This record gives sequence, structure tokens and C-alpha cells, in this order.
Amino acid sequence: MSNRIDFKEENSNTSDNPSFDSVLQTRLSRRGLLRGSMGTVGTAVLGGMGLSACGGGSEEVVALAPPATPVPPAPVAPAATMLGFTAVSRSLADTVIVPAGYTASVLYALGDPLTAATPAYKNDGTDADFENRAGDHHDGMEWFGLDANGKPSTSATERGLLAMNHEATTDEKLSSFFIHVNGGTSTLPRPALEVDKEVAIHGVSVVEVKKTGGQWSTVQGSAFNFRLTPLSDIELSGPARGNALMVTKYSTNGTRTRGTLNNCGTGKTPWGSFLTGEENWAGYFFRNATDDAARGNDKSVTSLKRYGRSQGAASRHGWETGGTADNYARWNNSKLGASVDGSDDYRNELNTMGFVVEVDAYDKTRTAKKRTALGRYAHESAAFSVPVAGKPLAVYMGDDSRGEYIYKFVSAANWDAADASPISAMATGDKYLDSGKLYVAKFSSDGSGQWVELSITNATIASYAGYAFANQGDVCVNARLAADAVGATKMDRPEWCGVNPANGEIYFTLTNNSNRNVNPSSSSQVAPDSANPRVYTDMKGATAQNGNPNGHILRMKEGAAGSAATSFTWDVYAFGAQSDADASKVNLSNLTSDNDFSSPDGLVFSPSTGVMWIQTDDGAYTDVTNCMMLAAMPGTQGDGAKKTLSYTRTDGSTLAVDTYVGKAPTASTLKRFLVGAKACEITGLCETPDGKAIFVNIQHPGETTLMADIADPTKYTSQWPSNAGYGAGKRPRSATIVITKNDGGKVGT
Ligand code: FEO
Ligand code: CA
Ligand code: CA
Ligand code: CA
Repeated sequence: MSNRIDFKEENSNTSDNPSFDSVLQTRLSRRGLLRGSMGTVGTAVLGGMGLSACGGGSEEVVALAPPATPVPPAPVAPAATMLGFTAVSRSLADTVIVPAGYTASVLYALGDPLTAATPAYKNDGTDADFENRAGDHHDGMEWFGLDANGKPSTSATERGLLAMNHEATTDEKLSSFFIHVNGGTSTLPRPALEVDKEVAIHGVSVVEVKKTGGQWSTVQGSAFNFRLTPLSDIELSGPARGNALMVTKYSTNGTRTRGTLNNCGTGKTPWGSFLTGEENWAGYFFRNATDDAARGNDKSVTSLKRYGRSQGAASRHGWETGGTADNYARWNNSKLGASVDGSDDYRNELNTMGFVVEVDAYDKTRTAKKRTALGRYAHESAAFSVPVAGKPLAVYMGDDSRGEYIYKFVSAANWDAADASPISAMATGDKYLDSGKLYVAKFSSDGSGQWVELSITNATIASYAGYAFANQGDVCVNARLAADAVGATKMDRPEWCGVNPANGEIYFTLTNNSNRNVNPSSSSQVAPDSANPRVYTDMKGATAQNGNPNGHILRMKEGAAGSAATSFTWDVYAFGAQSDADASKVNLSNLTSDNDFSSPDGLVFSPSTGVMWIQTDDGAYTDVTNCMMLAAMPGTQGDGAKKTLSYTRTDGSTLAVDTYVGKAPTASTLKRFLVGAKACEITGLCETPDGKAIFVNIQHPGETTLMADIADPTKYTSQWPSNAGYGAGKRPRSATIVITKNDGGKVGT
């Protein structure tokens, strides 16, 4: 959620990493043809199972688009068949709209029961037992197929598991908690019963889904179903396992921790396990106002500040006030005990959060593992390089806060194709994700870039004046500080990344950055640079939004060494903008009313069709349209041209920034496919292997509802999905929808 900055987007990179100076170059003009608006006939989402096909029949779908930009060969379908649907118009309606000829149905919403014994969700604030229900704020999601015998299958298309993140819940201090009868207690101490429910709706769920008689449904009572919550026992793995930084009262040898938290983007390993990224976890913890002194102002204070937890800051929900029992005490991250090593309190608890966590979605008896080698920061997705036998695997990852960095991990082990069907997914994870090299990205103004290894053997890190690293485990736990040391490039909030299966190119959404400024006036502001080149003002009604309010999508191509390369080239696939913005400074990708977007966040490639799905989590363009999902047939890195943006500083000098703008998308290569309900974010996508069903999450519809309005459904800012016919009550709920094409074809054609 971009329109409220509190615990979701902390801002703690005050490092003085230089932004490189840009050299004025001859401006090369590049223009794609502006296309007129196409007629848009949308289809609203249907709720509930067993509903028949929607009113927008397949006969309404006309392949108006000319052949798409040529795309690379298999596994991508022929270009002429892609994006044949009619673009969905921008919308402020409280409904989910998909193109004519498609049907979307609600499948799995907050509170839906997972076990046979769990009662149906009443949706009136009285429900309990959330450890056995769908959690809140559905986010990243992956598909795990099951054959008719219930065995893992990479080809099954009508039965499988959805593994998904439940990122967060509404903030009681800002608006209404729909899981509490009266909207929740917004003062401290928080009642234990409220805290218990709120904790339990965070984490991960795995739910079986199946298609019967042409309709998808969840399988209540499936033996596969399970939840992970912030109280589940989880193992620490990799370089930080057993490190002194990980010692807590819960695990005095630093090998385990309790729970996974603020799970945002996801990934799926080539060996068939689920990866979940812990994003804005820091804000859930409390520190006493005098904790810096209690710690003797040691290096842990430097680390805590760098990760956004200054002493005395309020925690997001006040969970530490729920009681004296250990499951509440663990949310107080202060040094309270007398021990030297932290084994008698939770002063080190934050060090056990902020990782990519591997989960065996097929086997709930396997303990999940935090893969510390991939670094600790505000994780979004984890996208693998295209596996090549005999070569290492790369995992690409972003750190979503203003001015944070882009990372990759390269496995020490070379890929063995036999591991695609592992006997034990978690042991295979040990092989590829516990040993390797962690890199951070530095972007240059000439369109190249470097991956800089974050290693304790690097003298720049080992002798860094800002923080005394003890060992490689410390480097992984304090990856942000190690990246500061080597001068990584501050980015405009890296969210999801995805790898184009056709050519291995890497796409990163950079969602927005209010701290990008031509005249930086504080340590957190940063001047525009080539990879983050825009600074402008966008009006939202009467409110000026400054910096890079609409975000952009960066594209990277590895050097000759592929996954193990230490250099890359890059450009910008597309800049977010409203279509009527200045095409010379803001709407650099010539977006039209059929494909303009703001604040890209989710980004997932379809292995079946090659479509790149782009999802938005926006607060800038939401005066015009609810958040959305677009389908793209992307080109290739370097298919556009250099452009120089020129800014005048307050002292009258000129700042010229070279950037590289990808070939402008056209009406046939980028098209709006879906617009969501009011006050929601669109996030998370997976598909059946035949590409004929996609699953998408609608997160936090109606979250702007005020606490005072909890008793009056007519004042809810959204009533979705109840207004689509799904479930009891009128309180809005995060939910998974399934989208199919009425003619049985692949989604996105
Ligand atoms: Fe959970 Fe950065 O989005
Ligand atoms: Ca605007
Ligand atoms: Ca996100
Ligand atoms: Ca976001």
C-alpha cells in the first residue's frame, strides 16, 4: 500500500553511497505510435462456486490486435495468438473486472476453513481459530500440482495446491479491523484475544484446489492443507545458523526461530518447493526508549537503526502488550536480561526475521527453513535464473524500501537436472540455497552494471567503518550494511522480480519513490540517476506527489557467464505514468488509456504463454482507477534508445541524466487485463501448467474503511467479495480468484 507510509515502507538508508554523475549526451528521440483508445467491454467477477459463465460471452472477444512484437521461441506460444482480448478500462467500481470472454470466480477468502472441523466463516468479527483458516492480505502465490493419486505432479492441471502468503492485516490505528466485532482496540495494551487473532492471520497457507464439472473449488479438510504463522517453529539454515547474532531465549544456540512474518512475494524452486519472502517485519517489534544505552550503544544499535527499528518507536499492532507470556514478550526486542549472549530475552529477535523461507508445500510435517545465505532485508519475490545443467543457479531479489538495493544469490552447487524431482525438497534446498555468493547491484550511466559480492573476505566490507562485521553470517544478517559498504545503487523501491523464461532477462518492478529529489536535502533523499532517472510532480486531485510517484520496470541482461556473471546490461522496460502525462519527461513509454499504470509491484512470467503479468499496488493514480493487472509481451533488453533527462537544480546548475528507455509498448504488446475492487492491491499470480487457469490475489479491498463505520456496511469503502456473491456478511475480505477463458483457451490469448 503506497498511500500510507508507516510500517509498510520504512526508510532507513541514510548511507552516503554516491549516485554517479551522469554525462550529458545527445538526446536521441524515440517515439512509438500513440494508439487510440480501444473499445472496452469488461466482465465483472463472479463469486461463489457453481456459477455459470459470465455475461461477457466468448463471442464478444475479437482479436483486434495486429501480431505482437516477435518474441523468442518455445516455450512461448506463437506471438499472433497473444493478448487477443480487448483491454479493460480504468475503473473505480467496487468489482473485479476481466476482459469480455473471460470468467473470474472467487475461490478462497480470508477466514475460509481449512480443516473439516472448522466452522464456516461468519464474517461478523466473531470468528476464531484462524490457525485453521485462510489468513489475511493474500499476497504472492505458487501452484503445486497433484496427480489423481495425490502425488506431486508437474503436469497436473485439475488438482493442486495453492501455497500463498498472508502478508499483513489492517492497522487498527488507521482504520477498521474487520476480524474484530467492533473493529479492534486502538489503544494500548491490546487485548490478548485480539492479538492472538491478528498473529494467526499472518504467515502462509497451503490449500488444496480442484476442478470439478468445470468449476474450481478449495478442498476443506484436505490432508494437504496447513498454515504457518508467526508462532510456527522454523529452522535457521545457511551461514547465519548458530551465529551469535541469532541467540534468543527461544533458541539459545541460534538455530531456530518462531514464525515467519509479513510474507510478501514468493518464488518456486526448480526442485518444486515454495519460497516466501519476509518484507516489512521490523515494524512489528517494540524497543524500549532507553534500549540504545541498555545495549551499551554497541553495533547492534547500528544494525537496528539500519533495519528501521529506532528505540522507543511504537510497534505496528502493540502485540508486545498482549500479556506477559513468552509469545507476547517476543515482540519486545529490547535488551531486558542480564546475559551477555542474549539467551534470556529477545534482544536478537529481529535478526531472525527478514529472510527468504523455504517451505515444502507438499509435506506439512517438514520444518520450514530460513535461507540466510540469501541475505536479510525487506524481501519481495525470489526469481530463479533459467536452470542450466552444470551451471550454478541464480536467485534474484529486491529489498522494498525507499533507496534500497537489488541483490542476487549464486549457488555454489551446479544444477543437476535430476534434482527437478527430488526425494526430499528441503535437503535439495540445503544443497542449492545454503552455500553460494550473495551479490548486490551497482548500475552505471552507460547502461552497464556490476554485481558486487558481499563477502567478509572483501576488505571494503571487513574494514567498513560503519559496522564491524564479525563473519559471513554477520554479512548475511546485515546485508544492507554490507551493501552500503560497497556503494550499491539506491533504487526506487525494488518489489517483485521475474525472469523471462524465453531468454533469461530479469525484470524488476521499482514501485515508486517519494525520496527521489533533484535537490536532496536530507540523508534519505537521493538525486535521480540513470537507473532511477525520473523526478516529477503528479497531481492527485489537489495533492502534489513528488519524486517518482508512478514507478518503472527495470530490465537486466546477464553477461556472458550467465547466472554467475558479475556484470550485466540494463534498460527500463517501461515507465509507469498516466497516459496524459508529459511524454518528454514522464510518460516516456507512451502509455495509452488502455495500458497506463502506476506503481508496478507484482511481476510474474507465465511459463505456459510467456505473458509477463504486471500488478499494481498504487496510491498515486487511484483517483482515476483502482489497482490493476496488465498482460505484456516484453521485448528484449536494449530494444529501445538512450534518452537524456535534464533537470535544473535550485542553484541554477543542470543535472543531466542519461537513461535507456526500452522500445515503447504498443496496444498489442501491453494491455490492461483486470481492474480490482475499491481500495485493494492486486498481487500474486500462478497458473495451471496448461495456462488455462490463473489464480490471482485481491488484497485488502476496503482497507480505507474508518473504525467509526464498522457497524454500518453502507459506509465500507468496499463490500467485495460479498457483493460478488461470495460468502456471508458484508465485510470486505482479501481473496484468491481464479480466471479462465470461456472458450477453454489459455489465459492471456
Ligand atoms: Fe508487500 Fe513491497 O509489497
Ligand atoms: Ca495524477
Ligand atoms: Ca509487493
Ligand atoms: Ca507495494
